[in-house]
Amino acid sequence: MTASIPDLLLDWYDRNARDLPWRVAPGAPIPEDPEWPYRVWLSEVMLQQTTVAAVKPYFAKFLDLWPSVHDLAAAPEDDVMAAWAGLGYYSRARNLVKCARAVAERGGFPDTEAELRKLPGLGDYTAAAIAAIAFGRRAVVVDANVERVVARLFAIAEPLPGARKAIRAAAGTITPDERAGDFAQGMMDLGSHVCTTRAPRCLLCPLAGVCEGRRQGAPERLPVKPAKKPVPERVGTAFWITRKQGREVWLVTRPGAGMLGGMRALPDDGWSARADGSGTPPLAGAWRSCGAVRHGFTHAHLTLEVRALETLRAPPGEGTWWPVARLGEAGLATLFAKAARVALAAAG
Ligand code: ADE
Repeated sequence: MTASIPDLLLDWYDRNARDLPWRVAPGAPIPEDPEWPYRVWLSEVMLQQTTVAAVKPYFAKFLDLWPSVHDLAAAPEDDVMAAWAGLGYYSRARNLVKCARAVAERGGFPDTEAELRKLPGLGDYTAAAIAAIAFGRRAVVVDANVERVVARLFAIAEPLPGARKAIRAAAGTITPDERAGDFAQGMMDLGSHVCTTRAPRCLLCPLAGVCEGRRQGAPERLPVKPAKKPVPERVGTAFWITRKQGREVWLVTRPGAGMLGGMRALPDDGWSARADGSGTPPLAGAWRSCGAVRHGFTHAHLTLEVRALETLRAPPGEGTWWPVARLGEAGLATLFAKAARVALAAAG
């Protein structure tokens, strides 16, 4: 008898699973630790659109600062935003705090996919992943890696995003009742290491013998991506305003729900993913140009000019004078950390 797809995959996972700080060894029982779902949830939120390598130090830092979901729920949002600085997609950090508070209020994580889905900021993927990995529930877990594996395995040729329904249904046909978390993470590992986007390593694949995409030839053509829309170019200006001979710099907190909302930042001229900035500085004075930084967001590429002014007056509006020597602790989003480096380099 030929082995089933879940058996082949799980057998491969038993031998090839990556050892990651948010995982148990393949086949091991789910830990009794009451904070296990918290760890799984935290890792899954961090891993959205972010690589394992980038997530590891942040995962360790968060567990160190907030060892339980109750600790995180009690943390000031500003502290969480600052600890998240550098990981990107900052709305995840805001939702993280909201979700932790909702979980703490109800006394812990719910253990079904449907109830998890009701928590703030938890989408289909995250709810399914937590149900499977933290609670061992059968759940169909489809992230971009799994999507690729399944599209090839079943030779689903419809372009994305339309193909998602068929991919999900096909994934449902191979998801086992047992070892749901191992199966989900095995599919992710297969997608990220073997069934890779450009040059799949079919010779190493446990599913090569049952892969319809491979049988038809050129599995790398699947899944078919939608035509790319050009990403708009935006321009803006960030302002490096200092006092005390450059020893303190004026920092603001970006408004709530907008781009990089809630993050500490340099003041800027109001650029956004949809519009260029006005270039207008918040104070009159002899501004110096320091150079520019480039930054890629999902929906726009930004060229941010950096201009500097030494002043005695605080700019209008809310903000803080922050010691430049301790800028590393300010929790600046990557874009503004780059802008600060340009300003400091120009100051010599
Ligand atoms: N990407 C998203 N979730 C993951 C997990 N649990 N292990 C590895 N990569 C992942």
